[in-house]
Amino acid sequence: MPAEAVIGDLAERTVVCKSVSSRRDFRSAQEPDLTVLKAQFFMAVIIRPEQPGDVRVIHDLTIAAFEPMSFSDGSEAPIITALRNDGDLTVSLVAVSGGDIVGHVAFSPVTIGAESHGWYGLGPVSVWPDKQRQGIGSALINEGLAILRANGAKGCVLIGDPAYYGRFGFRSDGNLSYQDLPAQYVQSLPFQSEPANGQLKFSPAFNR
Ligand SMILES: CC(C)(COP(=O)(O)OP(=O)(O)OC[C@H]1O[C@@H](n2cnc3c(N)ncnc32)[C@H](O)[C@@H]1OP(=O)(O)O)[C@@H](O)C(=O)NCCC(=O)NCCS
Repeated sequence: MPAEAVIGDLAERTVVCKSVSSRRDFRSAQEPDLTVLKAQFFMAVIIRPEQPGDVRVIHDLTIAAFEPMSFSDGSEAPIITALRNDGDLTVSLVAVSGGDIVGHVAFSPVTIGAESHGWYGLGPVSVWPDKQRQGIGSALINEGLAILRANGAKGCVLIGDPAYYGRFGFRSDGNLSYQDLPAQYVQSLPFQSEPANGQLKFSPAFNR
């Protein structure tokens, strides 16, 4: 799956995300103290492949999203740039709401043991801090996984919090390892019968 082919050939898809910030409580006119009707508002979010004009915003939003995270060393935005320059940005999707880019996810090739074809790493994934917890990250991840599946990938792997990535089907079975990281953070989602088994290596961009 050549990176340029995947990035360039995808159509955009519109998904609907909840907008927590615009949630309102309405009181019934008849029984104002008794009845509270909760209405949720929804916003349309377009998920589409990155375009050349998106590069600066992707960089800025990645920095803004990871800046508050204690585990971040600030390398995520340069990693995306290096993946792009190396031709390793296999899938790069942005989420657009109201004409603005609100989130981004990257997928790049990985090596697992002696297997260097068909597996992809998820990340970095970022949503602007004031747009988080509205389903945008999930929409980006689900769309990226669907694209990988549709292109015949063997599966996807990542390093991350099992509490978040478990909802997409990622699991740690102890057969995939990454340096000396505790097993629960090294997770995989096989798309075919073959499980992820061996030492995980990310693209060179992750090691600069
Ligand atoms: C991780 C991230 C991309 C998720 O995007 P999002 O749009 O907020 O995610 P969603 O709205 O789809 O999902 C939100 C849910 O994920 C949970 N969640 C978000 N980040 C989480 C994390 N690191 N660990 C565990 N749960 C997390 C939230 O608690 C929320 O759960 P709830 O709705 O059940 O309360 C976003 O929070 C972000 O940019 N974080 C900073 C950068 C980062 O940590 N990237 C991932 C590195 S592994």
